[in-house]
Amino acid sequence: MSFEQVDYTSLDIPAAPFSDRSRIPEFPKGAVPQHVGVIMDGNGRWAKQRGLERTKGHQAAEPVVFDTIAGAIEAGVRYLSLYTFSTENWKRSPSEVRFLMGFSRDIIHRRVAQMDEWGVRVRWSGRRPKLWKSVIDELDVAMERTRNNSVIDVVFCINYGGRAEIADAASAIAKEVASGKIKGGRVTEKMIAEHLYNPDIPDCDLVIRTSGEQRTSNFLPWEAAYSELDFVDELFPDCGRDVLWRSIDDYIHRDRRFGGVKS
Ligand code: IPE
Ligand code: IPE
Ligand code: MG
Repeated sequence: MSFEQVDYTSLDIPAAPFSDRSRIPEFPKGAVPQHVGVIMDGNGRWAKQRGLERTKGHQAAEPVVFDTIAGAIEAGVRYLSLYTFSTENWKRSPSEVRFLMGFSRDIIHRRVAQMDEWGVRVRWSGRRPKLWKSVIDELDVAMERTRNNSVIDVVFCINYGGRAEIADAASAIAKEVASGKIKGGRVTEKMIAEHLYNPDIPDCDLVIRTSGEQRTSNFLPWEAAYSELDFVDELFPDCGRDVLWRSIDDYIHRDRRFGGVKS
């Protein structure tokens, strides 16, 4: 993909332009994590620090999401999972939930052309029940429009919960056992992996959580079982590609052993 092909002036949205090439870090070949997950946390605190409504923090996060996607493309990340709305986030006030649903729907709608131009394949990970139909509809449109893109897969985790994903996989397997499609009494790890929301996506290599919280809050428990974790102090609206690149640089210097021993 040539970065010059994108004409940002033709897009009626705040641009998240690609970097001057001299700025893009030269990570060693093959060392960049293939799949990065980001727990985009701290929007509410960012707004509170400024005496603003929490929703203003979510709005401030939008350009950061697209800066992060641009930076992931530049770094050569192939899959980027973005924790956007968890199965636990329904506990928030009805007005914040309503805002987050409408805002997610609108962002996907407004940004699909930009993502398509960038070669992004839009994906979704999450549960259907409870999720607004208009969000699912926009996701369907975006996924269909971008299905042949192959620069990066961006997975919007909306109404996503890791335990729900594993429970849904278990239910699907149980159904297939009952119908005789799966024979024998043993459920294997491979079977569970094949029944996750997006079974073609490889395990997560690096999970980054912003805002200083050191927990994973039900994000990719299966896929990130062997992921490297990076907890960064910046609130998400203060982040962007530089924070992603710093995390990737840190990841590259880690020693991943997967239970084995290195000679
Ligand atoms: C992350 O920011 C966005 C979502 C969970 C949707 P928060 O809204 O959790 O912000 P804090 O953690 O309250 O600061
Ligand atoms: C995790 O952040 C969910 C998303 C970023 C979408 P939360 O703010 O909801 O997580 P907790 O409440 O700190 O665990
Ligand atoms: Mg939070």
